[in-house]
Amino acid sequence: MRLADGTARRAATSTVTESIKADRRLPGPPPHGGRLISRLAHPDERDRWLAKVPHVPSVTLTAREVADIECLAVGAFSPLEGFLGKADYESVVADMRLASGLVWSLPVTLAATAEEVLGLKTGNDVVLRDPQGEPLAILHLEDIYAYDREEEAESVFRTSDTAHPGVAGLLAQGEWLLGGRVTVLRLPRGRPFVSYRLTPKEVRQAVADRGWRTLVGFQTRNPIHRAHEYLTKCALEQVDGLLLHPLVGETKGDDIPADVRMQAYEVLMEGYYPNDRVLLSVFVAAMRYAGPREALFHAICRKNYGCTHFIVGRDHAGVGNYYGTFDAQDLLREFAPEELGITPMFFDHSFWCKACGGMATAKTCPHGPSDRVALSGTEVRRRLGTGEEIPPEFSRPEVAAVLHKALAEREAAAAAQRPGG
Ligand code: ADX
Repeated sequence: MRLADGTARRAATSTVTESIKADRRLPGPPPHGGRLISRLAHPDERDRWLAKVPHVPSVTLTAREVADIECLAVGAFSPLEGFLGKADYESVVADMRLASGLVWSLPVTLAATAEEVLGLKTGNDVVLRDPQGEPLAILHLEDIYAYDREEEAESVFRTSDTAHPGVAGLLAQGEWLLGGRVTVLRLPRGRPFVSYRLTPKEVRQAVADRGWRTLVGFQTRNPIHRAHEYLTKCALEQVDGLLLHPLVGETKGDDIPADVRMQAYEVLMEGYYPNDRVLLSVFVAAMRYAGPREALFHAICRKNYGCTHFIVGRDHAGVGNYYGTFDAQDLLREFAPEELGITPMFFDHSFWCKACGGMATAKTCPHGPSDRVALSGTEVRRRLGTGEEIPPEFSRPEVAAVLHKALAEREAAAAAQRPGG
């Protein structure tokens, strides 16, 4: 900022004032770090950048990085304005905090190979292209740094086992990281569920329009089953509104695809949730499967969407047996309430108990395991694959029917594509 003529200072001051004014108008609780970030370029700015694109070096993004760009653009990752630089990265990996001290548990990074890094210079700009080669964003490159992937895996995922999907992704990516703010030229193309893709600002506005003062967020990457419904309804007894917020970014190959899951959520919205108390919208981030650290990250992102509360049940964001059932809850308890700025709502393992004749948890049910109906995700997928029944005590029949039908159609379409099909 130049001080000599005062012009530059006035310009900078007015930008800051604008953003403070904008935040005062923002309904809901303060976003993480105090300000809801927006990195989406104004159309004029976008056109100016597009004219420069042919003269700027570029890097191609993975599906996870494309999802991160959308989160950065709309402020779901506030206060992040781009991909982490070295100081923030090291602090996040070691201490779950940005270099400023603000709690932040997952590294949001942009990896590049040695070949891609050749010819890049800090202080310059880089075009970030989607996997189809179209320019999506500009990275204002502040940092190019090497990092230790094994160390990151051990800290973030608590394992360096390559059978862990998050670890496998990390070890497969480039050996350099590029840090810097991004200017997002457009939201990614061909995004499904557009009507459900509410930005943090839009969710906040929808909540304000409904007059809710408290809002509980529910993260899920699975088709909605009775335990999910039980948790969300117990939580809703305590607050004004529920944000059903399924994650629709990249998930591992054997998770149920997001479009099928969305049909299941819609069926429940039609028949079993009070529509004037529940908002169904999607969380556009990719899944990392980082268990406890991802639970903390999920909570902070939902705070940016305007949630005052966040549900954490058993093995949140877990995969396989890498995390203890309640490790995520234990991690969240380590942080002071004012550091989180969102209240976690913890739930014990819930199930249908035949003796109770309803949903319960070990906290509320005196009966033993033989009375309890609980299926693992793997078992559900197996039954869907073979067309076997999913017990009505596990999934509502309407949901099971959606899953069976959608997966049978998918299987038929895949068979038709195969040679001789
Ligand atoms: S996750 O990867 O998004 O956590 P999932 O969609 O299965 O996976 O879980 C969504 C939320 O519901 C998480 O908070 C999880 O802990 C919770 N949850 C899922 N099933 C149960 C259950 N049977 N009992 C208690 N909590 C559960």
